[in-house]
Amino acid sequence: AACGNGKDGKKYTVATDSNFKPFEYLNPKTGELEGFDIDIIKEIAKRAGFEVEFETMDFDGLLAGMQSGRYPIGIAGMSITEKRKESIDFSIPYYDSGMILMVPEDSDIQSIDDVDGKKIGSRQGSTSQTYLKENTSAKVEAFPEIVTAYQDVKEGRLDGALYDLPNVKHYIATEGKNKLKTVGEVLQGESYGIAFSKGSKIVDDANKALQSIIDDGTYAKLYEKYFGE
Ligand code: ARG
Repeated sequence: AACGNGKDGKKYTVATDSNFKPFEYLNPKTGELEGFDIDIIKEIAKRAGFEVEFETMDFDGLLAGMQSGRYPIGIAGMSITEKRKESIDFSIPYYDSGMILMVPEDSDIQSIDDVDGKKIGSRQGSTSQTYLKENTSAKVEAFPEIVTAYQDVKEGRLDGALYDLPNVKHYIATEGKNKLKTVGEVLQGESYGIAFSKGSKIVDDANKALQSIIDDGTYAKLYEKYFGE
């Protein structure tokens, strides 16, 4: 009932996370929410004619909130899955991702085939946690914040962590140089989609706006801004 046709200048609450670099995070100096996802959804809102305000929360809380219809829009590097599609509507894909294994620089683990019996960290509610449970015999430790898992790998409390490639790469480049590395192939190609409450009427307009952002080169500029080396 809270959903208009998207062109009414209405303000929608966008559920997001505050710690999934470089997709969404708090700028340490200004405290402002920033990131690829934040810029993408702001631009979509501008082009589709609605306003957004952000609410940050844990990713698993976000999933639950989207599934129950509590939030009209959610953006948080969320992978489009068949299971989630049962209770959430998704935009067209806006980012190609996949999961990668992170281990200490001196680890013997060479790929996901070596993790059986090892302590591998992930994030609660994520596709990586599901993957580990369904495809390996690792001792899976799922945290409310993935950064805790990364720190534990760095300090030797975990043998590795499995998570989204762009986030793992970002962490290694900024806080894990000479201490952490990725091994093996990118597992399970996944696409991120913007989440909408089931039956939302704004999906079509949001998709049109997203497509125009891709087509006119704005997407490439944002990609360069956040993922350019
Ligand atoms: N892509 C993964 C998933 O959908 C992890 C996303 C985590 N996102 C976040 N904002 N913490 O499960």
